[in-house]
Amino acid sequence: MTATAPGNPATPVSQPPAADEPMARIEGRAKVTGTAPYAYEHPTTEPLYLHPVLSTVARGRVTAVHTGDAEQLDGVRAVLTSKNAPRLADTSDLEFAVLQSDEVTFHGQIVAAVAADSPETAREAAALVRVDYEERPHDVILRSDHQDLYTPGEAVAGAAPDSHQGDTDTALARSVVLVDQTYRTPREYNNPMEPHSTVAFWETLPERLTLYDSTQGAHTVRATMATVFGLPEENVRVIAPHVGGGFGSKGAAKAHNVLVGLAARALPGRTVKLALTRRHMFSLTGYRPPTIQRIRLGADTEGRLEALVHDVTELTSRTKEYAEMSGLSSRMMYAAPDRTTSHRLTALDVPVPFWMRAPGEAPGMFALESAMDELAVACGVDPVELRVRNDPGADPQTGRPWSGRHLVQCLREGAERFGWQGRDPVPGHHRDGAWLVGTGVASAVYPRLTSPGSAAEIEYGADGRYTVSIGAADIGTGAWTVLTQISAEALGCPVDRVTLRIGDSDLPRATVAGGSSGTSSWGTAVHAAARAFRGEHGADPRPGARTRAEAPENPDLERYAMYSFGAHFAEVRVHADTGEVRVPRMLGVYSVGRVINPRTARSQLVGGMVMGLSMALHEQGVVDPRFGNVVNGDLAGYHVAANADVGEVEAHWLEESDPHLNPMGAAGVGEIGIVGTAAAIANAAHHATGVRVRELPLTPDRFLR
Ligand code: MOS
Repeated sequence: MTATAPGNPATPVSQPPAADEPMARIEGRAKVTGTAPYAYEHPTTEPLYLHPVLSTVARGRVTAVHTGDAEQLDGVRAVLTSKNAPRLADTSDLEFAVLQSDEVTFHGQIVAAVAADSPETAREAAALVRVDYEERPHDVILRSDHQDLYTPGEAVAGAAPDSHQGDTDTALARSVVLVDQTYRTPREYNNPMEPHSTVAFWETLPERLTLYDSTQGAHTVRATMATVFGLPEENVRVIAPHVGGGFGSKGAAKAHNVLVGLAARALPGRTVKLALTRRHMFSLTGYRPPTIQRIRLGADTEGRLEALVHDVTELTSRTKEYAEMSGLSSRMMYAAPDRTTSHRLTALDVPVPFWMRAPGEAPGMFALESAMDELAVACGVDPVELRVRNDPGADPQTGRPWSGRHLVQCLREGAERFGWQGRDPVPGHHRDGAWLVGTGVASAVYPRLTSPGSAAEIEYGADGRYTVSIGAADIGTGAWTVLTQISAEALGCPVDRVTLRIGDSDLPRATVAGGSSGTSSWGTAVHAAARAFRGEHGADPRPGARTRAEAPENPDLERYAMYSFGAHFAEVRVHADTGEVRVPRMLGVYSVGRVINPRTARSQLVGGMVMGLSMALHEQGVVDPRFGNVVNGDLAGYHVAANADVGEVEAHWLEESDPHLNPMGAAGVGEIGIVGTAAAIANAAHHATGVRVRELPLTPDRFLR
């Protein structure tokens, strides 16, 4: 089946401007009436339900799995262990080598699984599986003085792990004003509304695997499953029309995808369904690794940066390397002539870390923007003015011109809208009853990424509608709607004459919904297909006319430094007696190129800001070093900001378009809202109380010293 969404009934016929309209989500009605099929809900006949058994030690070997009690339960069809699970074709990636050996490399690893007639039976039986281990000593805690720190390779990091420009040692020694501080962020976990889930069906003769998966990239998951199971890609199909959030955690296949594939293969002819619980997600679907970040800033008395050093220490897992590139923004953010950044990892006996909204930028800019606030205080310069003073005319890292750097405008407009003028710079001066009140600012940045390799197909139907097909993913971002708008604009037709098809690996290849690159990457492919279609079939095509095209290369990607910017302002209240922190007001102004749909873009920006608030105040995975597990691994113990935590949140943007980026002039908006937000809040908390908190989250105890 192919996913389609109905046209938007609220859009009047032949409304001309396809883009820049706050068009309502075209799949909105289906979602709120419960008829939009999420992965687990795809109708199947007599499915089997899978429930995994996870390791209770962080390192060692499984010596025995006792499955007798589980197998005796009525309705249990199979208990998979490393002894009886099908062999995989490729086990080079240990994260995906599920049930292929008896080695345990982290707490919460899949060591068995039960398939049964009902989810309740599967879960009950999984609890009856007893596992014996030979346990080995483990290490799960990140320390900056760890013996085994190493420099990650470029292939893993996606950029050089270290950068050196100028001579920072000499520059720091010369600088009159110095900031030298260390900032820490904890483990943070993605908690999308829809937990990870997969429905799998294995056919034989020929061998074909079909997955209904909750994923940010159908083609990405297809490629991994094909490799791991040794199938040609065309014999694997991944379908994902609707996805209830991902934030990065669904940006690649994960171990549970392999597990459900194994079960489907072991039970051919039966559909196997797997929905992870929240607890499963805390070891199987990635997390933002904790960071220790030392920042050194050298400046003159006016706050002009002379040197900027950002040294990052992070953990990765022994199972698979992942490098959170927290220092990248420090390479291009400010005009310090001498700049050094470094990333060091230590591989521990922990689950595999992975992307979480703005991986790298989110923790990195907490550190840098906190340090900039400390510098502002040290120099006696207003923190908005300090950032304006250090705004570089060209990219300090590459020397390239900006395709558009509008940070200063964001700061100025934000200051105006927020009411920054006349702020008393002295911390702890403003009290409202028992509450200490302060305001803070921080910059935001996110690269304007376009991933190469997407294609789109356009077909004209007898009904006078254009069907636009691309295997893109809407993870709640509004891609269904925005790609419809982009298609209509590219074809020069009203939006109600476009039928969009996305969320299926049988459609033309699309890159993953990650790195805020979806709109840019897929929209470029749609524009290319529309141009090719008009070139071949003209403005008055015959029914059945069809054209497919790849997104062309954009030489401007090498000529310009392309980044989105933003300015976050926050008001924070800290209770003088209890240390309770409240954030009644947040305001962001962004430069993100052209905004194609103000309604869905605002939703992304506000969502990012709320997640930033959550990062600032609440989120932390608490690790028990004795066992290597996260003790608060569910929504009862791991608090994610809820309605009662969120005050007024306003997102604004500059009227602009980036002519170098893509045919739409629009950058992605998925991630920039979380970048710098936590620093704005921590800076405001310092302004309120005089207490500088350099370690997230800002729990009440930190203000009660
Ligand atoms: Mo997003 S963390 O780039 O999927």
